Amino acid sequence: MTTYKIGVIKGDGIGPEVTAEGIKVLEATAELEGFDTELVEYPYSSEHYLKTGDLVPDSVIEEWRGLDAVLLGAIGHPDVEPGLVERSVILGLRFGLDLYVNLRPIKLYSEHLCPLKDKGPDDIEFVVVRENTEGLYSQIGGHLKKNTPDEIALVNGLYTWKGCERACRYAFELAQKRGREREAAGIADRLPRVTLVDKANAIRPHDLWTRAYKHVARDFPAIETDHAYVDACCMWMVKNPEWFDVIVTTNLFGDIITDLGAMLQGGMGIAASGNIHPGQTSMFEPVHGSAPKYAGKNVACPLGAISATSMMLDYLGETSGAQRIERAVGDLLRSGEVPSADARSGIATSDMGDMVVSWLTALPAREGSG
Ligand code: IPM
Ligand code: MN
Repeated sequence: MTTYKIGVIKGDGIGPEVTAEGIKVLEATAELEGFDTELVEYPYSSEHYLKTGDLVPDSVIEEWRGLDAVLLGAIGHPDVEPGLVERSVILGLRFGLDLYVNLRPIKLYSEHLCPLKDKGPDDIEFVVVRENTEGLYSQIGGHLKKNTPDEIALVNGLYTWKGCERACRYAFELAQKRGREREAAGIADRLPRVTLVDKANAIRPHDLWTRAYKHVARDFPAIETDHAYVDACCMWMVKNPEWFDVIVTTNLFGDIITDLGAMLQGGMGIAASGNIHPGQTSMFEPVHGSAPKYAGKNVACPLGAISATSMMLDYLGETSGAQRIERAVGDLLRSGEVPSADARSGIATSDMGDMVVSWLTALPAREGSG
């Protein structure tokens, strides 16, 4: 039996609660699908930092390279300087393991979760490929004459040909795969399309993205090319979300548009992401943060963390297990038992995990009887 060695960082706030449900669903899936997991827990979080003063040491990043994958809950605490622990843990993983793609599916499972008028699951089904190691997240910059009226704060938006090219290539390959899957499912109603989202009119160095995108597009003649400035992209995501198939964009723009995307899916509680370097240890997490006001109350929606485990299994090649979780989450949401995918659903975090497990356990029977 295959055993996957998974690092688990539960983190802060609602992180531990939602991660527990992700693991509950992961273990139920492992049993049904016939694989094993070995979980290695890491304490890194703001709470741990407040207690010990420890951030993630380089030796631990080295150790993570030896894992099959890492699951992360959420990082962030009101008593710690903003971003300090996030940079160490989240960016430590993304930059340290060179996880150059942040894959963020935007998928509406059930119409009742959608805030848009007259839009349904057929209209909201796209994926954002967020470049994950460069851009305004480069951490190259600083302050001069700090705390004086002459202070200068400088941050460099850093883009490399390699970084743009590999993100674009990932996006085109993904569009090709999605096109083939739609064809196999008999719903090839549209050509695969990759939309480049940037701000190359105002930020001229984004022209590097334009060129890298065009360079990669030449290798994929069957895929429709498309472009939107990020401001217009926000407008289109609300007006015509059905236009989008795969979006490729910079680190910061990807961060911003995927919060908007999460709302189209039903809320921050449901959105999941994979921080990926194909072929290497990758990290999976819900898109939401630590939501301190809901911490410890057993009210947070764990569906984002649960869907992150599905993305992890897909990445590990456990396709059937991944699909099983995705189907169960979809079936649960379509059943109408979950009024909203947020802390006001009236369903306890732990109950929601149990509900997903019961749907996924029932799947083969339902398929057989259907
Ligand atoms: C996300 C988060 C992080 C980001 C923060 C916590 C550093 O917002 O994963 O989207 O900006 O990438
Ligand atoms: Mn974000």
